[in-house]
Amino acid sequence: MATITRRSFIEMAVALGATAAWGQPTAARSKVDWHERRDFYPEGVASGDPESDSVLLWTRRPPINGNVVSKLTVEIAEDESFRQVVGTAEAPISEASDWTCRVLAGGLKPSKVYWYRFTDLHGNGSRVGRTITAPTDDDTRTVRFVFISCQNANDGAQNAYRRMIFEDERAAEEDRLGFVLHLGDFIYEIVWYPEDRPQGMYDRRLRDIVRYEHGEKIGDFHIPTVVGDYRAIYRSYLHDPDLQDARARWPFVCMWDNHEFSWIGWQSMQQFGGVNRPAQTRRVAANQAFFEYQPARLYKPSGPSLDQFDPPRVVDAPITHFDEHGLGQEPNNLTAIHSLRGYRALRWGRNMELIITDQRSYRSEDPTYRAEAKAFTSDDFPGFMPQEVLDILDGGSAYNGGHPPATIKYGSTEIANFRKDQPPTTILGAEQKAWFLERLQKSNATWKIWGDTVATLDMRADPQNLPAGLTSAWPGAGYAGFDASTGAGDHSTAYVERGEIYDFVRDQGITGFATVAGDRHSFWAGLAAKGLPPKTFEPVGIAFVTGSISAPGIVEAFEHGFPKDHPLRPLFVGQGPGDSRPQPTMNLLLRHGARSSLEYVKSGDIQKARALSNPDLSPHLSFVDMGGHGYAVVRVTSIALEAEFVCIPRPIERSDRPDGGPLLYRSRHRAHLWRKGETPRLETQIVEGDPKFSI
Ligand SMILES: [Fe+2]
Repeated sequence: MATITRRSFIEMAVALGATAAWGQPTAARSKVDWHERRDFYPEGVASGDPESDSVLLWTRRPPINGNVVSKLTVEIAEDESFRQVVGTAEAPISEASDWTCRVLAGGLKPSKVYWYRFTDLHGNGSRVGRTITAPTDDDTRTVRFVFISCQNANDGAQNAYRRMIFEDERAAEEDRLGFVLHLGDFIYEIVWYPEDRPQGMYDRRLRDIVRYEHGEKIGDFHIPTVVGDYRAIYRSYLHDPDLQDARARWPFVCMWDNHEFSWIGWQSMQQFGGVNRPAQTRRVAANQAFFEYQPARLYKPSGPSLDQFDPPRVVDAPITHFDEHGLGQEPNNLTAIHSLRGYRALRWGRNMELIITDQRSYRSEDPTYRAEAKAFTSDDFPGFMPQEVLDILDGGSAYNGGHPPATIKYGSTEIANFRKDQPPTTILGAEQKAWFLERLQKSNATWKIWGDTVATLDMRADPQNLPAGLTSAWPGAGYAGFDASTGAGDHSTAYVERGEIYDFVRDQGITGFATVAGDRHSFWAGLAAKGLPPKTFEPVGIAFVTGSISAPGIVEAFEHGFPKDHPLRPLFVGQGPGDSRPQPTMNLLLRHGARSSLEYVKSGDIQKARALSNPDLSPHLSFVDMGGHGYAVVRVTSIALEAEFVCIPRPIERSDRPDGGPLLYRSRHRAHLWRKGETPRLETQIVEGDPKFSI
């Protein structure tokens, strides 16, 4: 990338919708009359998607008390006091892009910390941001980054960012983070106004963070309907001081998950109350706000505008015809989902390529969200769904070599297979999947890291091993997965697609395949395998999931919502004889099985509980914490990859401590690079604290 010309650089900036700032070979003292006025830049500054010679810079300068400006000066320097300025440019801002500003700074040196700031023509200056370029492709140095997901400013505090900043500021220069990978749910578009839910949400009080001017109220929450509403929710989140400081400290690499558009969103469809409805106009509005508020190298076909998204015109039209990959052929749907392309690959030196995919725009409908799927659930087994049912529903017409059953057995009843004439579930969609596999195959980086917003690791339990008489007989044939409300719907139940990807990795002899994911609001470390016992267990890579920054997890939800007198409650939130409050026994259930959860509740003895482990349940897992929050640090070298889970207490209120509050635990999960034909392995080390239910 070092040989890129100024002309091709400007063409690249134009395609990204950014103003270009070209680095000068000789640094000079700033000539800009900058006075810091953070009140003129209420959403702070940010940078994103660094390459070895360029990075995107971002801010927002709205009209303040009638003081309107139409352009900003941006400076990028090698020092914090701007005596060594290497690039300056003027960038337009306007109401059409909600006064946001994107600049692609190029001609930079690799693996280097830079400082940047914005100034208006009156000298009102933004805060100073810090960013870091990527190493060149042949650089063998260690790469460090954090991956995170799911921050909720409506009901939580962003203490995890404060901890991240605290530790990074105190780390040796060579141990600092290179970037932050945000795997979605940067915002939650669903907002509860405090007066609509006085009881709060689980353990949390609701904050009055936004009022949607054109919002729609559904039940007791509100959702955005137009671009102004989506912009408003981004702004309210960016007013969080911890998030704003993090964006000013590191380059972010952001990918949307579901909540950047809609809770149960797929393509340009929304689903509420079990009913799908077309939402092409909202899909475009969500894409526009993402484009405006996240500095990212996204392709937009709507035109080479420097400063505007230029939304395509669409109408909300019914989507009734789907192709053989489940892609809705309605023209407004296609226009809406193609109005911004989020999947992309970024490179950090010899050791790492990050391949980021979009799990929402092209996916087929999740069968477990279909009303017909309810027939395979039971109040006696909340959350559980037989794994063979999930398998048949996922496979659709391709199940059993193209001979799917007409009915599916559930307990003593036969239920119609509503999926037998539909294609297998896809989360990536055909076009993106082809791109993804090609990137995997062509990458010559030591580690191929798949940034998948949704988890790939199987989440299952063994209700077949429950003692007789505890509840009714388990209606499944063996293991249980989980229904849509609890677990299904990610890459762990897209068996056909996940199998296709893992077979490709195996058949092509691809090593160093690692997945980092979010969405589950829980920490997971394990091996990537398409099948678990009694099927063949053949890992082809390693996989991790990070706990949420702040959004509530399933343990918190179950503490409040799982019926207190339900015989299966101890499997999820059990209380041992010596415990003063419920414990996350769900971790034991997923890692060791139902007998372990029940033993813990009976004796309070974790050793005895682990001794009853079912070895066939989760040979792929080395760690699971359904109650944890925080972030995951990844260190990548030419010989090993290590993910460190930094777990904080439930972030109910903002910590006033400089370190963001105490830690619950810190665990490390390390894999040595395996050779072609070798099986990957993970080693776990608990560095701090005692996550005793998780191992
Ligand atoms: Fe989330």
